[in-house]
Amino acid sequence: MNFGVIGCGKMGSALIAGAVRSGALTPTEVWGYDAIAAATEDFCRQTQCHAAASLQELAQKCDTFLLATKPYQVRDVLSQLGQSLGTKPALLISVAAGIPLAVLEDCLPATVRVIRTMPNTPALVGKGASAYALGARSTSSDAEVASTLFSSVGLAIATPESLLDAVTGLSGSGPAYGFVIIEALADAGVRQGLPRNDAIQLAAQTLLGAAAMVLETGMHPAQLKDMVASPGGTTIAGIAALEQNSLRHALHEAVSAATQRSRELSHS
Ligand SMILES: NC(=O)c1ccc[n+]([C@@H]2O[C@H](COP(=O)([O-])OP(=O)(O)OC[C@H]3O[C@@H](n4cnc5c(N)ncnc54)[C@H](O)[C@@H]3O)[C@@H](O)[C@H]2O)c1
Repeated sequence: MNFGVIGCGKMGSALIAGAVRSGALTPTEVWGYDAIAAATEDFCRQTQCHAAASLQELAQKCDTFLLATKPYQVRDVLSQLGQSLGTKPALLISVAAGIPLAVLEDCLPATVRVIRTMPNTPALVGKGASAYALGARSTSSDAEVASTLFSSVGLAIATPESLLDAVTGLSGSGPAYGFVIIEALADAGVRQGLPRNDAIQLAAQTLLGAAAMVLETGMHPAQLKDMVASPGGTTIAGIAALEQNSLRHALHEAVSAATQRSRELSHS
């Protein structure tokens, strides 16, 4: 497999850096191309991969592509890529938010298989949560390529495309919910007398620890919550305050609003 990266910005670089670090890809099999030459150079310095001087060169050298430009640039880029590929079979994995599989497939020759993904920003630090949906022409070995790539920067799950808006509402937008919760917990700690920096560190590490316990034990979060809420204790008093103030309802509304917005944007 020769792997071509189209758009060496934050997400393109983070994914390939993760894949190279984990051994999922070797730098000698990866070529990067960005419309800004300095971005291609930075990418190659960071990952030790090759540079392609043009999209045409990338199309000649590679058979598997990661599309990581901004969504509004996708149609132009794919029409150029399609012309360069001609009838050569290829796989294209898109991270462009809100661009449906049908649009990606329509912009490319019928010999190109397509996968659409929704990663999130923690992929930049190797803790991403991504979902991928297979296009009509993609195969199970294409799914393995996507799974390996996105697993190298965190968790990766397969999903039907119809659920990608819900994925956007939950894990795509979710890091921002986490930041708001960490900031609010830290403020609450400062109110109780903790120094600001200590409060931020304690809040962030506590959420990281809770998340690790869910993922590493495989236990239901309610079970883990029950284990730390002793009768008449401090934790159940805190949980009662959360319930009284509708934290659960607020999170339902957040995911629902973001999912709805993602649907609107994909159809605009
Ligand atoms: N950053 C995230 O956390 C995140 C999360 C989910 C999805 N995404 C998706 O990832 C994609 C990239 O986002 P990003 O944050 O990395 O953006 P970015 O701006 O950092 O990177 C995009 C890169 O594409 C390059 N580019 C533009 N036109 C090009 C062309 N014709 N050929 C080659 N390169 C070209 C730009 O120069 C830039 O370096 C977006 O479609 C976004 O929806 C990003």
